[in-house]
Amino acid sequence: MAFLADQIMRIKPSATIAVTDKARALKAAGRDVIGLGAGEPDFDTPENIKEAAIKAIRDGKASKYTAVDGIPELKAAVSRKFKRENKLDYKPSQIIIGTGGKQILYNALVATLNPGDEVIIPAPYWVSYPEMVLLAGGEPVPVVTSMETGYKMTPNGLERAITPRTKWIIFNMYEHLVYDDFEFYSPAQLEPRLYERTLTVNGVSKAYCMTGWRIGYGGGPENLIKAMAMIQSQSTSNPTAVAQWAAVEALDGPQDFIAKHNKIFKDRRDLCVSMLNQARGIQCPKPEGAFYVYPSCTGTIGKTAPTGKKLASDEDFVTELLEAEGVAVVQGTPFGVGQAFRISYATATSALEEACTRIQRFCGNLR
Ligand SMILES: Cc1ncc(COP(=O)(O)O)c(C=O)c1O
Repeated sequence: MAFLADQIMRIKPSATIAVTDKARALKAAGRDVIGLGAGEPDFDTPENIKEAAIKAIRDGKASKYTAVDGIPELKAAVSRKFKRENKLDYKPSQIIIGTGGKQILYNALVATLNPGDEVIIPAPYWVSYPEMVLLAGGEPVPVVTSMETGYKMTPNGLERAITPRTKWIIFNMYEHLVYDDFEFYSPAQLEPRLYERTLTVNGVSKAYCMTGWRIGYGGGPENLIKAMAMIQSQSTSNPTAVAQWAAVEALDGPQDFIAKHNKIFKDRRDLCVSMLNQARGIQCPKPEGAFYVYPSCTGTIGKTAPTGKKLASDEDFVTELLEAEGVAVVQGTPFGVGQAFRISYATATSALEEACTRIQRFCGNLR
């Protein structure tokens, strides 16, 4: 009898975490490495949010278990947020707080998937979506998109992927981090008939610079939220109390820093897109949101790196780039679209500029 469960054999470790760990280890060994793997803002959590957390600790509000699905104050703040920003009505009984958006997604999949149930995921996707589906016993169904459609799923692509076993479609959204007057809409808001069949997931990690605090939330049908809370009650219990109080301040407090950060992210996006498009063999489309670019490295495949290694894949490209120039990026294959790589530009502009210069040099030196 195998010691590890069959389910574990179905999944892979997170490629983004693997690259981040590798960059950290090389740095610790004294190498000059620029890490562009992790998707987290380089800005610190705003002071008012930190102060709210410190106050919660001092007031004795952070010492005890809270309700499994979150403190009423945070559920109320989430309800106000959904109304204010997404025009969506979710009562507190339709809301659950979890340990990051990641736990919300995972609980929803565990609560709803039977063996063989399918989940449609437009690719390139966030690396965790298919693995979470597999862990929950379901089958991921990628809909591969291309650079030509701006990596957007087409109605035809979606239609072809739907079967009687389709249970979910996962649409990704970075609602606050959009550029060029792009207007954000949430699926349940776009089509009211979807409201009863949609789980709207969000978190404070990216927009509020709170990745380490681990607070996410979901709004959806009461029976789904109840099932997710039951899973949480038998696994992790409530998300950390102090982080919940910090999240209340994040959602209810001043929001002006988001626009300031957006301006910086937009300038960094433009810098990356422009510099990468000047690298030989690289083609970099301009994304409308988030803090990633997803350039194609097709033009470098078949060329030879300074180590003498012939580049046969995006994995070879990122390995040789790290070796030659100390720039850590993530290969595209784990995101579902190969011969590409992902750069997170949520890092200091000077480091980003240096990294893009090194990528240009690396590509220029390929023979
Ligand atoms: C698309 C997407 N969803 C969810 C998450 C996880 O967010 P959280 O920190 O809320 O768990 C990430 C983090 O990288 C992400 O990129």
